[in-house]
Amino acid sequence: MALRNIITLGDKTLRKTSRPVTEFNDRLHTLIDDMKETLVDANGLGLAAPQVGVLRRVVIVVNNDGEMLELVNPVITAQSQEKVGAYEGCLSVPDKRGWVERSRKVVVTAQDRFGEKFSLNLEDMAARAACHEVDHLNGTIFVDLADQLFTEEELDEMLSSTEEDESAVNTEGK
Ligand code: NI
Repeated sequence: MALRNIITLGDKTLRKTSRPVTEFNDRLHTLIDDMKETLVDANGLGLAAPQVGVLRRVVIVVNNDGEMLELVNPVITAQSQEKVGAYEGCLSVPDKRGWVERSRKVVVTAQDRFGEKFSLNLEDMAARAACHEVDHLNGTIFVDLADQLFTEEELDEMLSSTEEDESAVNTEGK
């Protein structure tokens, strides 16, 4: 296993559409293992393959129990009408947050590292992270969905003055 370099906003790779995984081989397993190691090292909640420069449909999402889910060729197949807003972040957009509304519950279908299909119900932070990561596979970054970006410092000031600290979450950061 090895740490991979996380590319940041401005790198054109982040704007490209990732290709489906068709071969569930050692190369894929190494990518997944490296992504997990990289995600833990970065203290994040999700990571998509294009963020490490690989245009394949692979994401890692940390669920609400802190477990890392390996999702190959993930598709959001259903989402709740109920939406929740939060200040989101991204490992590819260091030190920036933006308000993004997402469905509170989603159903994701995906394949595991051996190609076996499965389906998962995700809620709250895990649902948000899954949507955020699947967006990466289509070249979409949370900054596209937020009206305005704030630094951590600006956000801290804003939230301490409005006392809405509970609305501050960070999808991929600490
Ligand atoms: Ni991200």
